Amino acid sequence: MSTLFDFSTPEVTHDHVQDFADAKVNLPTDTAKVYRAQVRTLRDRLETYLGESPDFGLKKMLLSGSLAKRTALKTLNDIDVAVYVASDQAPHKLGELLTWLADRLRKTYHQIAPENIYIDEPCVVISFKGTGLDVEITPILYDGDPDWRGYLWTRYGQDRVLTSIPMHLDFIKRRKDANPGTFAQVVRILKWWAKQRRADTSGFELKSFMIELIMAKVADGGANLDDHYAGLESFFLYIQRTALRERIAFADNYALSGLPARGPSPVEILDPVTSDNNVAATLTDGNRQTIVNSAIEALDILSWAKSCQTKQDAVTAWKDLMGPTFNA
Ligand SMILES: Nc1ncnc2c1ncn2[C@@H]1O[C@H](COP(=O)(O)OP(=O)(O)OP(=O)(O)O)[C@@H](O)[C@H]1O
Ligand SMILES: [Mg+2]
Repeated sequence: MSTLFDFSTPEVTHDHVQDFADAKVNLPTDTAKVYRAQVRTLRDRLETYLGESPDFGLKKMLLSGSLAKRTALKTLNDIDVAVYVASDQAPHKLGELLTWLADRLRKTYHQIAPENIYIDEPCVVISFKGTGLDVEITPILYDGDPDWRGYLWTRYGQDRVLTSIPMHLDFIKRRKDANPGTFAQVVRILKWWAKQRRADTSGFELKSFMIELIMAKVADGGANLDDHYAGLESFFLYIQRTALRERIAFADNYALSGLPARGPSPVEILDPVTSDNNVAATLTDGNRQTIVNSAIEALDILSWAKSCQTKQDAVTAWKDLMGPTFNA
């Protein structure tokens, strides 16, 4: 039997998707270096200051978030930094803690105009207008835990959570090491996809950290991430199959046999460091359904994109997924 078309190679290939990611999605390495250096300057200054005033109540500064995990997008608009604060010296209510921290940061960075250091709950922002990105400093109430566990307030929940940023970084690093060059790339492409959906789908509240954890679960299950079609499909299929009703948890830092009972949240993605912190606690059942519908739609589009017989049609399909800047 003769075939009219070669169905094995899609018109938009894995390599096209990678080229798009390199050109439009990924934060370029040189830019990332500049931002990391910006934080290093802040950290060095803080360390010098702490050397002179060890009882200042600040313990250390740490790059957190996507710039530390190397999962940042080109559209990154602020740098996440954590500052460890001595729990016995600082207020424990968020509002007072931020006022206390802003005051100390103004003392540490007296060369920065005080109005460029301001509170934006749950962070203190150091603004670098025109010269760099704003740095968002999250205080972590710290009691001396050797794994740097401490209490932090996330942008989305009201309550503080006990967790460890360095252990999160290790957790992601293990998945990156197990899937070199592919895990972080698929995460960045998915974050880009989610950015499009946040813009066009009301109630779509899938956050970057949730994407990373779902992808970690999928990668741990042996998914092939070498090919972007396969990697993306594995993620969307997982969401379709489970409808995000299956609890996600990881055995890296706690025993899966001793997990707390399921709580009231429709989606449970447990913090890989602290099993009683549900990273998806803010999602309503409506949010869950919206994410599931978007994932099912993405699967349909990917399958259509693979079977398109003209490149133009395939590019149009990919634009539906990744927005108007997609090209191939
Ligand atoms: N609900 C949460 N519980 C515990 N830790 C969290 C939670 N949300 C965020 N974090 C911590 O803060 C870090 C940064 O989270 P954030 O949501 O800013 O993601 P990101 O990886 O920086 O992505 P983006 O590039 O979108 O900013 C995470 O890597 C994690 O360590
Ligand atoms: Mg961030």
